[in-house]
Amino acid sequence: MDTFARFEQAIRDALLDTTLITADLIDLVAPKATGVQADLALPCFRAAKMRGSNPAQFAQTLANALKFTHESLVLKATALGAYVNFSLNPITFAQSVLHDIGQGKAAYGRSNRGQQQAVVVDYSSPNIAKRMRVDHIRSTMIGQAIVNIYRSLGYQVIRMNHWGDYDPQLGISLAAMQHFQHRNGNGESMLASLEQQAQQYQADDQVHDLAQAWASKLASGEPQAITLLQQLVDLSLSANQANYRRLGVAFDVQHCESFYAREAQVVIKEALHYQIAQLDSHVAIVKDLLDEQGKALPTLLLNRSDGSTLYITRDIAAIKYREALYQPSKIIYVVKQAQELHFRQAFTISKTLGYTKADLAHVACGMILGPEGRANPHPRFSTTIYLEPLLDEACARAKTLLKQKAIEAKTSFTSEWLNEVAEQVGVGAVIYHNLQHDPAHDVVVDWDRMLAFDGNSAAYIQYMHARCCSILRDFGRLPQNYNGRELTHPAEQALLKELARLPQVIVDAAERYAPSVVADWLYATAKAFAIFYDACPVLKAETLALRAARGQLVAATAQALRNGLGLLSIAAPERM
Ligand code: ARG
Repeated sequence: MDTFARFEQAIRDALLDTTLITADLIDLVAPKATGVQADLALPCFRAAKMRGSNPAQFAQTLANALKFTHESLVLKATALGAYVNFSLNPITFAQSVLHDIGQGKAAYGRSNRGQQQAVVVDYSSPNIAKRMRVDHIRSTMIGQAIVNIYRSLGYQVIRMNHWGDYDPQLGISLAAMQHFQHRNGNGESMLASLEQQAQQYQADDQVHDLAQAWASKLASGEPQAITLLQQLVDLSLSANQANYRRLGVAFDVQHCESFYAREAQVVIKEALHYQIAQLDSHVAIVKDLLDEQGKALPTLLLNRSDGSTLYITRDIAAIKYREALYQPSKIIYVVKQAQELHFRQAFTISKTLGYTKADLAHVACGMILGPEGRANPHPRFSTTIYLEPLLDEACARAKTLLKQKAIEAKTSFTSEWLNEVAEQVGVGAVIYHNLQHDPAHDVVVDWDRMLAFDGNSAAYIQYMHARCCSILRDFGRLPQNYNGRELTHPAEQALLKELARLPQVIVDAAERYAPSVVADWLYATAKAFAIFYDACPVLKAETLALRAARGQLVAATAQALRNGLGLLSIAAPERM
């Protein structure tokens, strides 16, 4: 149990000890009235009604009856109107938070809430022979953060990349692949040149026929075509690898959609058998379907007239497969907003056919828009952002800024340090910028904000973490014995309250599928640290006891920031 949970427990226990109230009537809430110095409040309306008394009177009686010892996390209970307000005991609170972080270290904030239940996360999921689009880029980063967050709550997470290999242009890509000269290149640029070659081919009538020929060879399963397709798949997988590595992204399972094609035929049969679909000139049609909320869903098809499967059918087959293999408690899809209806339909059919017991969630992602952003009348169509150049530019800009800063501060640095930290700051900036708002929000690339060392950015948070590390380097050995009692300054208490929130923040982020909850916490904590650092000297604290306690607070802040950044796959350099 973390400190806030223990605080709440202490209040509940004390309330029950009065015998004036029963457990079902204890509903602790955040204090509502403004200007109230309290940390939790108990509204007394229901309890008073049960006892036939007036809420304000009952609140007073209850407050008088409550008792807390010096060791309790609760300082006092005071009645205010119909509420009893509870405030934290600053002394025991400081001690408890520092203890939690000191004990937990890298695991501080984690828990075993998930009890090893399986959760499948389907994210990134680009299409073969193509670079990732902006929606894949967002999905990659948001998905990875969701993976990290669920893992930290003790879920067994299966990271799945669902590659698209049903591009109608696939014949052209195969024709291009056959003559592709850059197979030994690396990174996304390899895909860029493959795309370019395919584009040239598209304009060429002769090659057009060749592409047609490849497409039908593939459809009839000719070995030569299958081999070429496999080469294309391998090339696509390896081309993205460098970017995935930079972003701290890795998968447990990577299947192409065609992997599910056979099972998709079974889905069609079963849908017809259970009369969820009707056959109309060889096409299985699903009509009059209601989603979970009872809303009518538009009619959809499960196959083409030539018998081949469709995107949705393969997704339903994938659900069946995932259920059989992992029995997940949840399957989370991090995919662009535009596929909202697709998933609602796929989920409804899967549930209707009894394919899974899992909660099925679609985390709808917005886009990334170029620096011209919304000013452009058709930003979605005019902006093409690719991942590798985006990361490279961020790192180049980070390098310039870091160098400038180091020169201004007259600190010496090696080029090794500069390269390493520029990569961490640049990549961190891109990730944070993508995560700091709700997944559904569009993101506009804004280099100044992305790399602001003094705004809501990864660089600012990384910088505050590096600040902590620098204080700790100058501090020398942290004394084992310290007294949390020393930390009663409002800036110290405010920082401790932020640190204490991390465990709950992770739970909230998981429930809302929103890594932005962690990002908000990181920013709030970094700001609270900056205020503390301005107000409270650490190395030159007035007494040795105070110095020791503040040193512990700085160490705890560094640890908590590191843990939070790690949840977003953002590095925490020790010097900046
Ligand atoms: N490849 C698809 C696209 O580019 C996204 C796949 C998302 N995942 C899924 N299971 N449908 O639009």
